Amino acid sequence: MTGTSAGVSVGGKTVDLPTRSGTIGPDVIDIGTLYKNTGTFTYDPGFTSTASCESKITYIDGDEGVLLHRGYPIEQLAEHGDFLEACYLLLYGELPTKTQKDDFDYRVTHHTMVHEQMSRFFTGFRRDAHPMAVMCGCVGALSAFYHDSTDITDPHQRMVASLRMIAKMPTIAAMAYKYHIGQPFVYPKNDLDYASNFLRMCFAVPCEEYVANPVLARAMDRIFILHADHEQNASTSTVRLAGSSGANPFACIAAGIACLWGPAHGGANEAALNMLAEIGSVDRIPEYVARAKDKNDPFRLMGFGHRVYKNYDPRARIMQKTTHEVLNELGIKDDPMLEVAMELERIALTDEYFIEKKLYPNIDFYSGITLKALGFPTTMFTVLFALARTVGWIAQWNEMIEDPEQRIGRPRQLYIGEPKRDYVPVSKR
Ligand code: SDX
Repeated sequence: MTGTSAGVSVGGKTVDLPTRSGTIGPDVIDIGTLYKNTGTFTYDPGFTSTASCESKITYIDGDEGVLLHRGYPIEQLAEHGDFLEACYLLLYGELPTKTQKDDFDYRVTHHTMVHEQMSRFFTGFRRDAHPMAVMCGCVGALSAFYHDSTDITDPHQRMVASLRMIAKMPTIAAMAYKYHIGQPFVYPKNDLDYASNFLRMCFAVPCEEYVANPVLARAMDRIFILHADHEQNASTSTVRLAGSSGANPFACIAAGIACLWGPAHGGANEAALNMLAEIGSVDRIPEYVARAKDKNDPFRLMGFGHRVYKNYDPRARIMQKTTHEVLNELGIKDDPMLEVAMELERIALTDEYFIEKKLYPNIDFYSGITLKALGFPTTMFTVLFALARTVGWIAQWNEMIEDPEQRIGRPRQLYIGEPKRDYVPVSKR
């Protein structure tokens, strides 16, 4: 529809607004001149019908349950590639050649250490601090260490900061976990792949050698791929909005981590596992399904529903397969929470309420079971989501900086407060 227009009549005025078409997906109406020409704003508090930008990175077809990264289906990337290949694709737009991949792996690997003084940041937190609080603080503090990559107008500095974020997030996440459990930090090793390095930094102790189980490392790597990017979700939009003011990339990623923490977003994996534990057994599922349907009960089935997917989240299918692989590798035959999860899914997918509202399991429904089986406490689940999503945030941040149409984000409002009134002295109130 690019080149056509949409006629809008408001307040007795009719204006023609230009429309644009993308490669695939819904067209957009460019409302940039609406207020100037009609004195009227649009209103869309949850951004359910609002595009904030043009993007080439990720595309979701919610009705078909399709997720593409630079055009490649998530199923194929998760099946055939590794996380750093997905990172290269998200950042540069094309799958790397062997030489490009080896060079990228080398550069990321050789940026995995953090400044030694970073370790002092952790000691300021209580041991029982939620690791996501630690991540917000420590990632935001990175800008205090890496002044040489905070000039956002310099493409080279932007790419250095991007690589530093991708490389250092596993190290910081592992340090947050080790501090939480009172064990010494473990340094990264350059002869390990990304996921194995992370598992070793989390689970190795100085007293004995640790070698990551290759099946579990592959599962961890695939979980990172599944969480890498997802269009303009709440935390990515937060990163873009923070970046639109010119804030440095480390501060923008810290803002994204803070937003992801919410249980309606990335915090849902922790909330979903806690929900499965609370349900406890298959016979208690009907009680919780009834609560989820009760408009007067704030309870929701965590790990179900999605703003965009009105079909099965393709990531959830791959996640479910990975869950079974991990449980089989660990010899966990009858995980009660998996049993509850699969029965809850079966019931929900046949229940009229969930069918009518198109509520399907999302990526967070099965990830918690897998991460728990891998040995992570529930408080670390969203940290792992943030670790993986960092590449998506940083790719979207770079795209926003390079977009000539992007300006500081500054929404307007519908004011419903008091009209102008005069001050009343306290003696007359
Ligand atoms: C992620 O945006 C992304 O891309 C996010 C993400 C990513 O990769 O970045 O995919 C990651 O955040 C996945 C979602 C994780 N969150 C949860 O699992 C929490 C539980 N889900 C809900 O909170 C909810 O489904 C949301 C937040 C995910 C979506 O909220 P919406 O789009 O605002 O939908 P809604 O709240 O308006 O729900 C529509 C209807 C409502 O009923 P009505 O008011 O129309 O009668 O469906 C109901 C809701 O009550 N509903 C649920 C439900 N989710 C929605 N009812 C019971 N259980 C649920 N889980």
